[in-house]
Amino acid sequence: MIEVSGLSKEFKIYKKYEGFKGAVKSLFSSEYSVKKAVDDMNFHIDEGESVGYIGVNGAGKSTTIKMMTGILTPSHGYCKVNGLVPYENRKVNAKNIGVVFGQRTQLWWDLPVSESMNILRDIYDIPHAQFKSKLGYLKELLGLGEFYLTPVRNLSLGQKMRADFAASLLHEPKVLFLDEPTIGLDLLVKDNIRSAIRHVNETMKTTVILTTHDLADIEEICSKIIVIDDGKKVYEGSVADLKKQYNKYKLVKFELKPGQTVSNNSLFNASSDDIQTIVENDYITVQFLRDKFEIADIVSTVLSKFQIRDITIEEQGMEDIVKAIYQRK
Ligand SMILES: Nc1ncnc2c1ncn2[C@@H]1O[C@H](COP(=O)(O)OP(=O)(O)OP(=O)(O)O)[C@@H](O)[C@H]1O
Ligand SMILES: [Mg+2]
Repeated sequence: MIEVSGLSKEFKIYKKYEGFKGAVKSLFSSEYSVKKAVDDMNFHIDEGESVGYIGVNGAGKSTTIKMMTGILTPSHGYCKVNGLVPYENRKVNAKNIGVVFGQRTQLWWDLPVSESMNILRDIYDIPHAQFKSKLGYLKELLGLGEFYLTPVRNLSLGQKMRADFAASLLHEPKVLFLDEPTIGLDLLVKDNIRSAIRHVNETMKTTVILTTHDLADIEEICSKIIVIDDGKKVYEGSVADLKKQYNKYKLVKFELKPGQTVSNNSLFNASSDDIQTIVENDYITVQFLRDKFEIADIVSTVLSKFQIRDITIEEQGMEDIVKAIYQRK
């Protein structure tokens, strides 16, 4: 469904100078540096998959999405979406894809939501019966009824996002690109948008690619993740595999009573992958494989050697695994 091969995007960044004189100088300067926003990216996404495309700020996520939606042309390499090269076939491609950029709206600012939908019906040439049933379905799914006749500029962020999401699906696209679809939303609206995305992915077999900084989005929607850093892919795998990894470990954190010295890290005799001890100020943290060690043994070992003020037990979550991937690069 989506093929990305050697995809790269370079931006020329012209040198700027400070102050008024600098601004004038900047106008005539031709000095620039090159920023590789996306650098030799390769991946493949099958029909019906839901993929989380994640990375730190500035990693190149939006730039990749923009090339896959035809807004930007790559500097090298290519991508194909549903057999088409998006930036060479923008009009035909637009019929196959739906796009939501969480940071801005595709709706008409001064018109009611209803009118935006009517305009989109005409743009996409959607048959009357399809439009009616699709709209009915989306209004119900996303609760658009209460603000359907309100001008877009008067909508709250959450209402706007729900309307935007509905607008992206009217023409029944085969692929849905979502760039931070839950940014700035409250928990209830996030939940609504997430279950709507999942519903569309499951019932219509719509392929979904989404970027997000909220890993709960990934957990609840995606079957696969691609992690990028500095324009390059650093991890690709199924969310199920990731979950297996983070369900493997448990953490126990001991707070020591002051004045004790912990001499070394050899509290436990085991290979370092199975169990790790981190000593920091007045804390000892033990991370261990949950099926190899009993938590009671770990606790009694530490209690027999140190005076403890407090104990906390933590499950390792997706955040920790992803943080480790970000740090490992
Ligand atoms: N039009 C542009 N001109 C110059 N540089 C750009 C342009 N667009 C993006 N960049 C640079 O390319 C890099 C990648 O940007 P991009 O917006 O793709 O990141 P991102 O992963 O979406 O980040 P975020 O999580 O903050 O949205 C950044 O360093 C950014 O400054
Ligand atoms: Mg972005």
